[in-house]
Amino acid sequence: MAALPTRHTKLTIDLVHHLTWFESCAVEEDVFLFYAKSGHADSSQLRISNPRQWAWETAGGSSAITVVLTSPFCKVGYLVYVQRMAFIEAHNLVKHYVPRGAPLVRALDGLSLSVPQATVTALLGPNGAGKTTAVKVLTTLIKPDSGTATINGMDVARQGDQIRRVIGVSGQYAAVDENLTGFENLDMVGRLYHLGAKTSRIRAKELIDLFELTEAQNRPVKGFSGGMRRRIDLAAALVINPQVLFLDEPTTGLDPRSRLGLWDIILRLVDQGTTVLLTTQYLEEADRLADDIAVIDQGKVIAQGTSDELKSSIGGQRVEISLVSDADSDQALAILRSVGSAAPEISSDRRTLSVTVDNGPSALRSVMARVEEQGIRLHDAGMQRPTLDDVFLRLTGHSASPTAKVETAS
Ligand SMILES: Nc1ncnc2c1ncn2[C@@H]1O[C@H](COP(=O)(O)OP(=O)(O)OP(=O)(O)O)[C@@H](O)[C@H]1O
Ligand SMILES: [Mg+2]
Repeated sequence: MAALPTRHTKLTIDLVHHLTWFESCAVEEDVFLFYAKSGHADSSQLRISNPRQWAWETAGGSSAITVVLTSPFCKVGYLVYVQRMAFIEAHNLVKHYVPRGAPLVRALDGLSLSVPQATVTALLGPNGAGKTTAVKVLTTLIKPDSGTATINGMDVARQGDQIRRVIGVSGQYAAVDENLTGFENLDMVGRLYHLGAKTSRIRAKELIDLFELTEAQNRPVKGFSGGMRRRIDLAAALVINPQVLFLDEPTTGLDPRSRLGLWDIILRLVDQGTTVLLTTQYLEEADRLADDIAVIDQGKVIAQGTSDELKSSIGGQRVEISLVSDADSDQALAILRSVGSAAPEISSDRRTLSVTVDNGPSALRSVMARVEEQGIRLHDAGMQRPTLDDVFLRLTGHSASPTAKVETAS
């Protein structure tokens, strides 16, 4: 497949020749919607009647291309304006591991994903969900058993060399040279990318400052703390100003201040046009950084959307009350049951009760009126939107809490 054009470029393409870009199209008023794919399309799926203008979007908001015909009657040679395109595309990735003497592991089970340019997508999933495997496939470290993936239109299976020139990767475990200093590690990466001696040193210094490693820059990395090691590894991923940045659990092991600092750096890079795919088990991180969140479990995406979309997909708000005395819990439960859209929940000390409701304000008013009527004394009452934690639990049935991880070089 030909490389897709970059953002804001105009070019003339032969749509018949590039049918592989489209999966299906639909007409809505004057606008044609085309759905992208990376395999081969059936030509019958692309019917060009006589539109003056087409807009192309994918359902997940991944790509949008406005296609304008140079002439309403010409069959080939259309002018294309690319507004925003998916930079990272994965279709149906399957990957098995065959551990010696142990059963086969299906780490990716048909994972599909689409990350538009200059956005952050978070892969959110529990231990063993397949996050690192997905990152390894997309960064050309391992080959999928089946399925396809492209980075800026380049195929991960066939164009690894080209892809590696435009991506930055920070793996789950810091991959730094223990015997070199922090500065030397970054300088070495610059040299490997042929930045030139002077440019490479300047870039290393900039990144040392950005990641607040000035004091430690001249010490060998083997004496670095886990968090410092992590920061040097993240800095190394940024040496070439990559178009696409893959971060596998970037803030695991960072203290809260460094975590906030890294979030800031990521958001600034995205503002400048970098596309970021990160994996995380921290719901707060996905909530804070990601334009789009793909919840993955057992090797496939089980839900995708913005944080708000995912939250609203599991229902409305929650009303929560906390009782002064657990003796009132049965009465309070009955009240919550009468306004809830699901069964109420109660804490083990029987003093905090909550329930999902469709209309938060009106449910809260009605709970308060009946609580008062029945003389139940409250410490607190309020309304909450579901958290990503709730979404995660509801979708996967697992807890999303991160387990402690040991930072080791691998
Ligand atoms: N090299 C390997 N050999 C055998 N099995 C593997 C290998 N790498 C990963 N797996 C298995 O594949 C599945 C997915 O692992 P992966 O590392 O992609 O998960 P993850 O979502 O990154 O998990 P974590 O949150 O723990 O980092 C797991 O069951 C894991 O045990
Ligand atoms: Mg992992």
